[in-house]
Amino acid sequence: MPATIVVDAFWGDSGKGKVTAHLARRLDAALAVRAGVGTNAGASFTLDDGTLVKQRQLPTAWVNPRTKLAVGPGVLVNPSILADELERFGVADRTMIDPRCGIITADDLAEDVADPFLRGVVGTSGSGVGPARARYVNRKAQQVRELTEFAGLCGDVAVEANTRSAAGEVVLIESAQGTQLSLSLSFEYPCTTVKNCTSAAAIDDVGLSWRQVGDVVLVVKALPTRVGEGPLPHEMTHEEAVRRGIAEYGVNTGRPRRKAARIDAELLRYATMVNGPTQIALTFTDHIDPAVKGVRDPGGLTAEVRRVIDEVEQITDCPVTMIDTGPLLNDMIDL
Ligand code: IMP
Ligand code: MG
Repeated sequence: MPATIVVDAFWGDSGKGKVTAHLARRLDAALAVRAGVGTNAGASFTLDDGTLVKQRQLPTAWVNPRTKLAVGPGVLVNPSILADELERFGVADRTMIDPRCGIITADDLAEDVADPFLRGVVGTSGSGVGPARARYVNRKAQQVRELTEFAGLCGDVAVEANTRSAAGEVVLIESAQGTQLSLSLSFEYPCTTVKNCTSAAAIDDVGLSWRQVGDVVLVVKALPTRVGEGPLPHEMTHEEAVRRGIAEYGVNTGRPRRKAARIDAELLRYATMVNGPTQIALTFTDHIDPAVKGVRDPGGLTAEVRRVIDEVEQITDCPVTMIDTGPLLNDMIDL
């Protein structure tokens, strides 16, 4: 079965991780591969027993015990975060890390936080990805293959993904960040991350051939958010978000997420053009209308949420196939 790529339309924090975890269970995925920049990503979701999960390095698909996990060669690895997640999720026996992944060092972290431009103008996540990627591009970085502690996990993730997909197995690619944060495709440079965050970038992070791509799921956050600097069309005040009970804070940094009052049609059209989605996952719909919180049956959707679904389908010319209605992993309508 050709692979499914999960990618974000706007500025990230849209529930890509949750959508991928959901798909890993529903499709009983054989393999899930993390793409994207690195540990600047922060995915969070709540298991049905109420446990809040936060993670930055491994694919969220670990929630399916039969899914093999991998980190693609284009993704930067923070060794201590990787070690922590391997242990926390107990997945070392089913995880493959590509030996070509670049390493984020303590110096990268320190520079990302101390640099007034990165901190003040860009408003980075402070996870060291900018300095690490600059060194990587200059061919001065260490790679995972040099770290003895991960020797047993190393394998060619491009071979793994292409072979399994060609053999008809279900392969998921979990991208990170969001299309509008793309380094060269965003019109908001320097308020971007350090590489592109599109479906094409995600398959390149893995080394997956385009021939193996079957589906691109574009994750569209019903009320888009942005952390850090740069324009956010239709931005509401933080006070309004608090008053409506929909204020959000970053998984990694705790920073308040700036929040838009609605989807910008032009930006969604652009994200559709560059990502080529075959399906849309509309997330955080309970932030448009609290009445749908936790709804798991299409009959429970309200007129307000249906209106946004129609609008998104019209702009993207693509079906909304998943509707996220709350923080629990199972708060999801799969049409
Ligand atoms: P960096 O990727 O940490 O260098 O940060 C550059 C910009 O991208 C900043 O505005 C960050 O807030 C934003 N950013 C990076 N990764 C994420 C993410 O996973 N979610 C949301 N914003 C992100
Ligand atoms: Mg996030």
